[in-house]
Amino acid sequence: MTKRLPLIAGNWKMHKTLGEARALAREICQGVTGDLKVEVVLAPPYTALTTVAAELSGSPVKLAAQDTFWEPQGAFTGAISPLMLKDAGCRYVIVGHSERRQHFGETNQTVNLKLKAALAAGLCPIFCVGETIAERQAGQTLKVVGRQLIEGLAGLTGDTPEPLVVAYEPVWAIGTGLTATPDQTQEVHAFIRVKLPELLGAADDIRILYGGSVTPENSASLMREADIDGALVGGASLKSDSFLKIIAAAG
Ligand code: 13P
Repeated sequence: MTKRLPLIAGNWKMHKTLGEARALAREICQGVTGDLKVEVVLAPPYTALTTVAAELSGSPVKLAAQDTFWEPQGAFTGAISPLMLKDAGCRYVIVGHSERRQHFGETNQTVNLKLKAALAAGLCPIFCVGETIAERQAGQTLKVVGRQLIEGLAGLTGDTPEPLVVAYEPVWAIGTGLTATPDQTQEVHAFIRVKLPELLGAADDIRILYGGSVTPENSASLMREADIDGALVGGASLKSDSFLKIIAAAG
């Protein structure tokens, strides 16, 4: 039994107008009541952060952004700083998502800058790692994830000002309907669990989430694995019924 509180985060990616975001956040808050044994986080697009923050006020559900820049302010057209995210009501921020790496030139070095800036601003980063299908087929999964951890966490220690969360998201499982099996996932999670204290010192409290085609059907079996502390959910977080079922399976 893990002593870590499970965390279920919904990454809405580039979905939801303000009206849709408000409605979805409201439905999720209504479904997440009572003595919740799960931490629930919603990551809407930037435009909907303050709208969703208003909906979440008074509920235990927390707000996340999907990315951040590392500078606090300045002439960086189009960028959003950790301080602005904090100001908008965010508790968490996703950093290093594979879609940022793939489409927007994110590297382990920029991930490292973002992790440091997020922590310094009082945000909890959800730090994403994961291999491509080519890397998995070449037997490179642990090497790739290891390098992402080493370079992403360079210069950080276990006593970060805010808790860090790691999300293992195999790129080939994202949005494809191909979920890593609980065994495949547990292998990488166990590797990350061993690696974190080597890199950070004490890291027992760090939650390691799984992401990649998580659904109400597969979430319970994934959550049973010893080193899986929750899920980062994309598609199935866009509807309240499927997301609430995943939350229920984690509790
Ligand atoms: P899907 O759940 O749609 O595969 O997305 C996973 C993801 O990328 C969450 O960050």
